Amino acid sequence: MELVTLRDLLPRAKREHYAVGAFNFNGYEDAVGIQMGAEQAAAPVILMASQGACQYIGLYETVGIVKGIAKHSKVPVCLHLDHATDYDFIKEAIKAGFSSVMVDASAREYETNIRESKAIADFARNYNCSVEAELGKVGGKEDNIVVEDRTAAFTVPSDVPRYVEETGIDALAVAFGSVHGFYKSEPKLDFDRLDAILKLTDCPIVLHGGTGIPIADIQKCIDMGLAKVNVGTELKAAFSGTLRKLCAELPAGEFDPRKFLKPVKGAVAAIVKEKLEAFGAAGKA
Ligand code: 13P
Repeated sequence: MELVTLRDLLPRAKREHYAVGAFNFNGYEDAVGIQMGAEQAAAPVILMASQGACQYIGLYETVGIVKGIAKHSKVPVCLHLDHATDYDFIKEAIKAGFSSVMVDASAREYETNIRESKAIADFARNYNCSVEAELGKVGGKEDNIVVEDRTAAFTVPSDVPRYVEETGIDALAVAFGSVHGFYKSEPKLDFDRLDAILKLTDCPIVLHGGTGIPIADIQKCIDMGLAKVNVGTELKAAFSGTLRKLCAELPAGEFDPRKFLKPVKGAVAAIVKEKLEAFGAAGKA
């Protein structure tokens, strides 16, 4: 199968009240694990690489890995660039074959955010690549982007319609209480704010910082109309936790990398399957 875009996935999810899971990967094993989990759930899936992950893996290598995965996949796969702030890099990623990108101009003021996000959306249209942007500022640490609690800012619902209209984006990340990374205290989502946003726009809405939010809260957002849920940190923890355990358990003479890394795929797949079932996406492939 060819890679699909957010346009292929999210409007249907919104209509049918489930969310598409979007999962961060940093290399081959977790990328494969994500697709395995999606196939086990028979759900479409979004594989996300941050700018940092692309630089670590190599941009063309990232595209090559995921196109290879998609080729044999029984479920639709989207390759999405997550939280990119370097516009030249975003354009390079689009040209390299990403089927979706997130332009993160959330640190800019409103008019500049509109102008810069629109420029990327205009560029991407020529490549059949979808675009997500962010309005408001999700707090926490996502790769090399750190948003301190005092600078995080919830999305103002009345800012949304003009933003969506003028940028021409395909999905909008909003800030209403979720945080990237593990939570320092109990997450408190502002459901009324999300509801107000959802009533003001048809644009599919994205929840960032899916790690650590109680599933019941995520399901409440999905029932309200949320269409994409991002999960990253939880998979990183499963990856490194599995490796740590194997390093302790495998005999000292074991040197085959596959003995260490194959279980990583399984650990990632198990989490992804569970999430996709909880998001109502199972069977939607
Ligand atoms: P978490 O790492 O908190 O799950 O957030 C992932 C994310 O939102 C990626 O954009």
